Amino acid sequence: MCGIVAYIGHREAYPVVLKGLKRLEYRGYDSAGVALLNGGKLKVYKKKGKVAEMEEYAMGKDVKSHIAIAHTRWATHGEPSDRNAHPHLSGDGKLAMVHNGIIENYMQLKQELLNKGHQFSSDTDTEVLIHFIQEIKQSNDCSTEEAVRIALKRVVGAYVIVIVDEDNPGTLIAARKGSPLVIGVGKGEHFLASDASPIVEYTKEVVYVNDYEIAILRADELILKNISNEIQTPYIQKLDIELAAIEKGGYDHFMLKEVFEQPQTIFDSLRGRLDAKSGTLTLGGLREHLDTLAAARRIIIVACGTSWHAGLVAEYIIEELCRIPVEVEYASEFRYRNPVVGKGDVIIAVSQSGETADTLVAMESAKEKGAIILGVCNVVGSSIARLSNGGVYTHAGPEIGVASTKAFTAQLAVLAMIALKIAQAKGSITEQRFQHLLDELHDVSEKVATALLLNDQVKVIAEKYKDARDFLYLGRGYNFPIALEGALKLKEISYIHAEGYPAAEMKHGPIALVDENLPVVFVATKDSYYEKIVSNIQEIKARKGKVIAITTEGDAMIPSMADDVIVVPEADELVAPIISVIPLQLLAYHIGVSKGFDVDKPRNLAKSVTVE
Ligand code: F6R
Repeated sequence: MCGIVAYIGHREAYPVVLKGLKRLEYRGYDSAGVALLNGGKLKVYKKKGKVAEMEEYAMGKDVKSHIAIAHTRWATHGEPSDRNAHPHLSGDGKLAMVHNGIIENYMQLKQELLNKGHQFSSDTDTEVLIHFIQEIKQSNDCSTEEAVRIALKRVVGAYVIVIVDEDNPGTLIAARKGSPLVIGVGKGEHFLASDASPIVEYTKEVVYVNDYEIAILRADELILKNISNEIQTPYIQKLDIELAAIEKGGYDHFMLKEVFEQPQTIFDSLRGRLDAKSGTLTLGGLREHLDTLAAARRIIIVACGTSWHAGLVAEYIIEELCRIPVEVEYASEFRYRNPVVGKGDVIIAVSQSGETADTLVAMESAKEKGAIILGVCNVVGSSIARLSNGGVYTHAGPEIGVASTKAFTAQLAVLAMIALKIAQAKGSITEQRFQHLLDELHDVSEKVATALLLNDQVKVIAEKYKDARDFLYLGRGYNFPIALEGALKLKEISYIHAEGYPAAEMKHGPIALVDENLPVVFVATKDSYYEKIVSNIQEIKARKGKVIAITTEGDAMIPSMADDVIVVPEADELVAPIISVIPLQLLAYHIGVSKGFDVDKPRNLAKSVTVE
């Protein structure tokens, strides 16, 4: 949600930040902008729209500089427009700033500044903050660094800011609270970015800035301080991502690449953990917490969106295998309704990005109430990972497509392993079932590869239904959350209204929507709910709905009833969702593409939602 990139060093800064913005564009693409120091003067180029539009606007202009800050925006305060695009300038035009996050008390600060005669040229909270910093700098006659420190003590909200100062041309100042910020450490150069993707091709040495830290960056110097002005020792880590992981590699879209990566990413999430041959399962990040988990009074899963759907599947699996009550909460609702949480409760936070603000604040409030927090995250070193007492990384690799795909199946694999590990520790699973499920998980990558062979068939089905106005997705049991996920993918990518429901619930209301124009996608693989879902399909057919069914090999009944059938490999019902979601991801993708939409950057969305 908003991408920030900045550079200081021996290279030309503009090409570095421009490329960085393109890599970060998945975080927001309402507008883009750059500020740099050219001939000692601040120059700002910014434009509404995608980075390419800003690039075109800056074409032919003098962008020579060795220091630059840049931003791609997901609008919060003020519509997407040139004037609201970042960077924003201080009143005297000497400071330029980019910002990710929300300044919650900006109205109050703005009023104070208006009273002092400040004038604003945008609707943003960001412009208020940079005016506020400049006001402090002038009235206290202090350095920009000191003014930033004083200002941030007054600020309520979440932020990453990066400032370039005309009067101090060899220095960048950055600070973070609640939004991610990575520093890349090179030889005679430093990079700053919202994630490591703009940095990885230049250096593998990075520092993750912590909340309430301020970084002062020069070409050959990095100083880290806390908000009380005490020097902190930067902890330099080695990045473990490769450039290829963040490039399209011959695919038309990141989304398609990521869908097709799933046999490998699922394998990676199991690798070194699950050994079906020896019948062992090792989850290092849970080791210390296994007894607590086995004795848990309740497990509460907090997440948002697709990760919330993974949590729903986990609820079914954990309750089945571990006999521990599980609640799955929308993180945003959990946080604000004063939930009953205490000792004996274990929270599992599920998040691809590890930066989702709603999930983070839910974790913080549960932690205050004494609960143990475990994280299931994709991004190593992310805020959610760091706030957790323990947990398991999903290891799906960088997910660039805004709609989550490979992170979801990796979450399902990891959550299934967690359930198995708890069940084993608790003694609530027989050795035989444990081994059977290890075998099933071991085989799932190959079955996903087989499901991907359906791509061309799904494309034909997508073409047939792409003009439908609405879609209904239905499933039961372990496949109910997959129906929700299928509907979410379609909404995001194709802008077609789609709803997911438990198949049986359909007759309590949504069935009123069914007529010959409504495609109804049934996720109806062979499981213990099979007979029931067959009846639900009949109910839809009786009302002339068009049925697209995801079924399993060897099923003769459903294909005889459905209008279109997509046959996936059979698997144990606990593992089947990892396979049954594949054709739904492909269906959404092909419908979105055939309608001419930018499936990697769907309108209004952004990856990594760092505002509440
Ligand atoms: C849907 C999607 C979102 C995210 C949600 C949570 O395709 O990507 O619904 O799942 O914003 O994000 P994370 O998992 O990063 O916490």
